[in-house]
Amino acid sequence: MNLLNKLVIPLSPEHIELLHNISMLIFFLFVPYISIVLGGTVVSLYYKSKGLKKNNPIYLRYAKDVIETVTINKSMGLMLGIVTLITSILIYIQLFHSTNLITVNYLFWAFIFVTIGVILIYTFRYSSSFSELLNSIKEASEEEETVAHEVEKYRINSRKLSLKAGRFGFAFLIIGTWLFTAGVTLGFFTSKWTDTRVLSILFSWAVISRYITFILISTSFTGATILFNFFYWEGGKKNLDDEYKNFARNNAIILTSVPAVILPLFLLLDLTDLPGSALSGTVFSYFTIGLLLLFLGYHYLYLMYKNSNAKYSVHIFLVMLLTILATIISDQTAMINANKQQTFVLAQNFENVMAKLTASSAPTTISGEDIYKNICSACHSFDHKVVGPPYNQTLPTFNGDVDKLVKFILHPTHPVPGYPDMPNPGLNPAQAHAVATYILKEVKKYE
Ligand code: HEC
Repeated sequence: MNLLNKLVIPLSPEHIELLHNISMLIFFLFVPYISIVLGGTVVSLYYKSKGLKKNNPIYLRYAKDVIETVTINKSMGLMLGIVTLITSILIYIQLFHSTNLITVNYLFWAFIFVTIGVILIYTFRYSSSFSELLNSIKEASEEEETVAHEVEKYRINSRKLSLKAGRFGFAFLIIGTWLFTAGVTLGFFTSKWTDTRVLSILFSWAVISRYITFILISTSFTGATILFNFFYWEGGKKNLDDEYKNFARNNAIILTSVPAVILPLFLLLDLTDLPGSALSGTVFSYFTIGLLLLFLGYHYLYLMYKNSNAKYSVHIFLVMLLTILATIISDQTAMINANKQQTFVLAQNFENVMAKLTASSAPTTISGEDIYKNICSACHSFDHKVVGPPYNQTLPTFNGDVDKLVKFILHPTHPVPGYPDMPNPGLNPAQAHAVATYILKEVKKYE
């Protein structure tokens, strides 16, 4: 990943903003898509196994209809599941460039797992159809006993293979989306960037609670998508007998509403868990809009349950989709807020490069004071404790040695007992030198 780090060109502030906007767009595409693939796979696998055991044609048909609904088609899988993830990795490499790239590592592994998962799940889908086909051939060739026998053998094998592909695909997708959640969560918690223990990150409360939120959204939106696709899209599915229709409707309503009722609790937990630097008016506004939309969703779910009127399925679907979008905006805004410091460093790097390019002879001036005000002062003051220790207590130990201080700033160790670790501020050596000189000079006023 270090190699990638070196390849990145310096970013202008406009470029950074653009990247954040594209990232938001990518989330709009990726999150709803991967949600329904994951949720739909579980539902389909569940009813397929149950249907085979109990020899229940309704379950089997539902399993097949659901997986066909959620996977849409192969090119959608490629575009929404895989291309989106590659793009988000490329964006995060740039946004988190020059600091720890741990977020990018998680997204990279998420990409590997999700890709394998998606391929297996499409195999599950298409091989399911294949065993259906073999079934009808078998029925057609009932008189030819040997043919029927051969076909039956193939059918059983292909069914086994199909279920296996589905189960493995599901497992890969679970791990992939979990890693994805961890990568995104780390984007908020700059203080965790030094933690390299993968398991302690994956099982940290911040990641677990966001992952539960994702699973709830995934299940609920899968239900809404089934309702929409079965009962509204292109006039609803044709030739549904009443028994199947009722079964599918009730099943999808439960699938949508149960997680939707628990969802606000976890949305709230995720919000309160964010670092203070991530919160802002915009974050709260979109969060509230998301909740209000969700409540509207309950209303339509109730109406659909009561009247079984197909037109409510489109309302439910749209409201759930908008809830997801509002949540993503709130979340991404929080991420931008939490990374203001990193954005500042990137923008300063850009200015330096520009200055070098435009006036190649004049030495560029980096203002240590600016860096102190924009980055260090979030945690430090000269004469009192903020998050970190006051400078007039710690700086004297450096005895005016600028180089030693620069070394510390570039690679913070853990020198002061009773304080948390200082995260790497992501400065380059010239910037570190400027700020070190500035604070060593300034602190004299407080001695
Ligand atoms: C996110 C909060 C945070 C930011 C931002 C931050 N620091 Fe720190 N800093 C700390 C904490 C916490 C400690 C105590 C570190 C420890 O003991 O591990 C610390 C310790 C220090 C020390 C004492 C080191 C020693 O050996 O006594 C210096 C000097 C320092 N920081 C300088 C800086 C400078 C310069 C910047 C800006 C470029 C900066 N810090 C930005 C949190 C921060």
